[in-house]
Amino acid sequence: MTAFNLSGVMQTLTIPLYFRHLENTGAHPVLSDPLATSLVNSLDYDFSHLDDPAFWPTKVGIVNRTCILDEVANELAHKNSEINIINLGAGLCTREQRLQLNNANWYHVDLDQVAALRSELFPDSNILAGDALKVGIWADNIDNRLPTLVIAEGFMMYQDDKQARQLFERLAEIFPRVTVTFEILGWGHAYSTQSIKVLNGYSAEIKWSPKDPMPLLTEADPRYRLLAATNVQDVNKHLWRHYRWIMMMMPWVDKNKHSNRIVTVTTH
Ligand SMILES: C[S@@+](CC[C@H](N)C(=O)[O-])C[C@H]1O[C@@H](n2cnc3c(N)ncnc32)[C@H](O)[C@@H]1O
Repeated sequence: MTAFNLSGVMQTLTIPLYFRHLENTGAHPVLSDPLATSLVNSLDYDFSHLDDPAFWPTKVGIVNRTCILDEVANELAHKNSEINIINLGAGLCTREQRLQLNNANWYHVDLDQVAALRSELFPDSNILAGDALKVGIWADNIDNRLPTLVIAEGFMMYQDDKQARQLFERLAEIFPRVTVTFEILGWGHAYSTQSIKVLNGYSAEIKWSPKDPMPLLTEADPRYRLLAATNVQDVNKHLWRHYRWIMMMMPWVDKNKHSNRIVTVTTH
């Protein structure tokens, strides 16, 4: 067993890891992630609170965001001969191992204790320990002439407005050919950690869930332009059970209010 002593925002990595494991071991998985299953089995951590059936929509949202981001990474890798993929707040993400992209240089950034755990579990991957917001520090040894994809999955909601603006500003400054793909929490949850039931018992605070992120991004750097925005309700629709019909019957309801989006922007 691998010891697990993470708390605060670092502990939230257990949520996507466990839901990817559940999907992987389910009856008709839309995502194959055997590594998530072996990590869950190897960690000395009690995941049972995540078995609550009421969390099924959260699980679908996480599985779907994973599928959307896999597609974004695959697409960019296929369009270029060599790219960087920088995974901010990487947690125990298994995308590098799942996608097996031969032309991608992966870098996983996370806080010191997570980086130490990740290094123990993934000894062959590039792990950059420290605050992901301090781009000037961790970006030092990355070749910034290459097209660069920055992935922020389950990460931006824990940063505040000012931190988000500074992050986008520094990414654009340091990586001339940057594409950033990031998850935005449903804007109806704005600043309300309590409304996210799965976070009960985790001491992590929700700080960012804008209705429209573009004003902040273009303030950070006017070159940012929107490439795509995909709501997690828009993929693997059969997984949404009765929600799907409810949303179809109420087209005036903004799905971005209730469900998360993956937004992809670029500066070039
Ligand atoms: C919900 S988890 C997401 C993990 C992973 N991206 C995934 O989807 O499986 C959030 C992660 O962000 C990391 N994190 C939060 N704030 C951070 C910061 N300022 N610098 C580096 N990592 C951070 C946490 O340690 C945690 O691993």
